[in-house]
Amino acid sequence: MIAIGLMSGTSMDAVDVALVRFAGGGCELLHYHQYPIPQPLQSALREAGPNSPVGGIVELDARVGALFADCALESIRRSDLEPSEIAVIGSHGQTLLHHPDPSIRNTLQVGDPNRIAYLTGIRTVADFRRMDMAAGGQGAPLAPAFHAWRFQAENATRIIVNIGGIANVSVLPPRAAGAVSGFDTGPGNILLDQWVRRHRGRAWDDGGEWAASGAPDAMLLAALMAEPYFSRPPPKSTGRDFFNLHWLEARAANLTAEIAAADVQATLLELTARTIADAICTPTTTATEMFVSGGGSRNSRLVARLSELMAPVRVGSTAELGVPPDAAEAMMIAWLAKCRVEGVPANLPSVTGAERPVILGAVYEPGTKLQATSYKLQGNQ
Ligand SMILES: Nc1ncnc2c1ncn2[C@@H]1O[C@H](COP(=O)(O)OP(=O)(O)OP(=O)(O)O)[C@@H](O)[C@H]1O
Ligand SMILES: [Mg+2]
Repeated sequence: MIAIGLMSGTSMDAVDVALVRFAGGGCELLHYHQYPIPQPLQSALREAGPNSPVGGIVELDARVGALFADCALESIRRSDLEPSEIAVIGSHGQTLLHHPDPSIRNTLQVGDPNRIAYLTGIRTVADFRRMDMAAGGQGAPLAPAFHAWRFQAENATRIIVNIGGIANVSVLPPRAAGAVSGFDTGPGNILLDQWVRRHRGRAWDDGGEWAASGAPDAMLLAALMAEPYFSRPPPKSTGRDFFNLHWLEARAANLTAEIAAADVQATLLELTARTIADAICTPTTTATEMFVSGGGSRNSRLVARLSELMAPVRVGSTAELGVPPDAAEAMMIAWLAKCRVEGVPANLPSVTGAERPVILGAVYEPGTKLQATSYKLQGNQ
């Protein structure tokens, strides 16, 4: 079966498209491409939040759905496949809000899957998180289930860390030795991105070089590390509606105003590396290797600091395990779509806290054999 995974994560930088062939109990990445989200749409998505008018959300749902459809069609064209060769598209959509706490327990991903199914002519699966939430879970992270399926070893404990806007960790014990655990550790790139955007007008701190030009501030770091989320036991998940510059200012506005902007960036890098390492380095860990995926794996200063903190655990890339780090999350969505059409539960209650395994996602049939023939990527604003 060939499945497509469409993903846009908390960084809101790009739509990731992975074409994945599933065969013989494994999977092979046939094609991967990242389509930058057009600036006007990025801005509208970044501004959306708990107080957005419903009209604005409805519009974003339509625009993101059309963009995702375009990206899927363009990737099919680039990979020299026909739409009829694709069994299913999985679409994560773009998260606007994620509220896992029991008082609300809901999450919203926009990107109308009806449009994706109709415009591509391909069966589409979306809304992967909310059945787990209906079953009392966090609806996140979903990646540990895919990590277990793809990376779990017979004899070794492996740790996988995905550094997207938010960072999540999966601890994979040897296959016969107990449950997989995993959770969101907190900020991945999100604070680094937002701080460099505010002070330097750039989308990200390339290679972590700006952070490296400053020095971490001990008082600021202590104020940020005191955030209760970091010491809360799992299950736990979070999003950009919690970790953002408002959070930074609420915890330490007086300090960020006094400290040089580059030193704040250095502190945020240190915070990101430490909260990931602290989450993994429990006294009982027997892991000797950790593998990193996500855009944060391109931040060489962040990875270098993480490696120092993780020693003697060796830090590598999921590329060593056959999954290119940029493509990992989109491959996971393709896998979730495959699980859905095969009727296989894909949540891990040991990770999300759900009462039981459940089938994730809803299926949208194209309802027509017509195939869209034009590729409108440039025109989608
Ligand atoms: N060369 C680079 N140097 C530093 N950071 C980089 C570089 N390239 C990418 N990044 C970081 O990676 C981010 C994008 O990562 P990614 O797409 O994995 O995150 P995401 O979209 O939030 O995904 P998800 O939340 O699903 O994991 C960028 O916003 C940026 O912070
Ligand atoms: Mg991304």
